Amino acid sequence: MTVSLETTDNKLTVKAITYENYSTPLKIKDIDIPVEEGTIIKPNEILVQVKATSLNPVDCILKQFSNNYFGPKDKIIGGDFSGIVVKAGDKTNFKINDKIYGDILDLKSRGSFSNFIIFDPKKVWVCEKIPIGMSFEQAASLPCVSNTAFEGIKKYNGSLNGKNVLVLGAGTSVGCFGVQFAKHYFNALNVVATCSETSTKKTLNAGADLIIDYTKGEKYKIDKLLNFVKLNGKFDLILDCVRDESVIDHFDQILNSYNENGVFAQVSGSYVLDYKNIHYYNLLPSWKSIITTLKFKLGLTKYSFIPVWTCQDDEYGTAIAKLWSEKKLNIFIDSEYDAYIDFEDAFERVASCKAHGKVVLKF
Ligand SMILES: NC(=O)c1ccc[n+]([C@@H]2O[C@H](COP(=O)([O-])OP(=O)(O)OC[C@H]3O[C@@H](n4cnc5c(N)ncnc54)[C@H](OP(=O)(O)O)[C@@H]3O)[C@@H](O)[C@H]2O)c1
Repeated sequence: MTVSLETTDNKLTVKAITYENYSTPLKIKDIDIPVEEGTIIKPNEILVQVKATSLNPVDCILKQFSNNYFGPKDKIIGGDFSGIVVKAGDKTNFKINDKIYGDILDLKSRGSFSNFIIFDPKKVWVCEKIPIGMSFEQAASLPCVSNTAFEGIKKYNGSLNGKNVLVLGAGTSVGCFGVQFAKHYFNALNVVATCSETSTKKTLNAGADLIIDYTKGEKYKIDKLLNFVKLNGKFDLILDCVRDESVIDHFDQILNSYNENGVFAQVSGSYVLDYKNIHYYNLLPSWKSIITTLKFKLGLTKYSFIPVWTCQDDEYGTAIAKLWSEKKLNIFIDSEYDAYIDFEDAFERVASCKAHGKVVLKF
């Protein structure tokens, strides 16, 4: 693939989805990005033509909290992307025409919702080659959510072979990948998942052994969990993707203790699942989780309580490629939009938290 790129005064003009601060609307704008004279990229950087991106709640959250003090005036939104390497610095492990996916989310610099992006692959959360046969839309749906899910399941210290895992909020994209990693990569014996009836088929396809419909109320959920434990033993790992802390009060009955390696891993996110009107306090940990974490750090609880974030992990790309080649990776896409025409609809969709899979923008 040859792409002719015009640079003027050491600036590359890209067409991006931008905003200035929390009160300004998203706008399509031509943005001048400073580049290296002659080479465009530095030896440790790559230039990528973006083919697809996917939206995450964090994109809505960062936009909502953004002010004029940090980063460039015109901020490019987004983190997740897939695309084709157009230029590769000789200090990188990439070459021209490599098809890649990644997550370049950064509080201070420019995001991924743009026709071209430049970055240092070693400094971003995720940058991996797309496995053969995976579309750009599928690949763009992976980085943030599947990486977070992978890290969440890895919080279990030891092999999950023969163990019981509970995924709270398996209808979320993080939860759905969590089920798949637990069942197909880490070989858990039983994966129990909470989700609504709408997400049940998807979650069963992902590999869940038992579904509990959380919309039927707390008593229903806890009774079902207690019944599972009676038949199969306690959970070894609970991955919470929706800050459902109702289970904490029942840990004694459902979660193995710290001495038996029991872990409660909680994906860090907002306390409300409506990202249109989010506030700082929605991101604060609950009193229950602060107290439980403090007690854990002081050695006063019987359980490990571990927060989960996206993070760089050498094993992650290999795990994705393995599951994909074994045909054990389902990538659920809720909807696809034209990046430069329908981006507002796409943001509405993800902010509502009603998307059943990833919301994708095509560039
Ligand atoms: N810290 C990090 O690094 C990081 C990274 C990624 C994501 N996150 C956080 O993880 C969470 C999930 O993100 P996501 O992108 O995976 O979400 P998502 O795909 O947008 O989640 C949508 C799904 O959430 C489920 N849902 C809605 N309300 C619910 C409720 N009250 N209880 C349980 N499930 C509910 C729905 O499934 P049902 O049909 O089952 O209702 C819906 O399909 C967010 O809080 C996000 O901020 C954090």
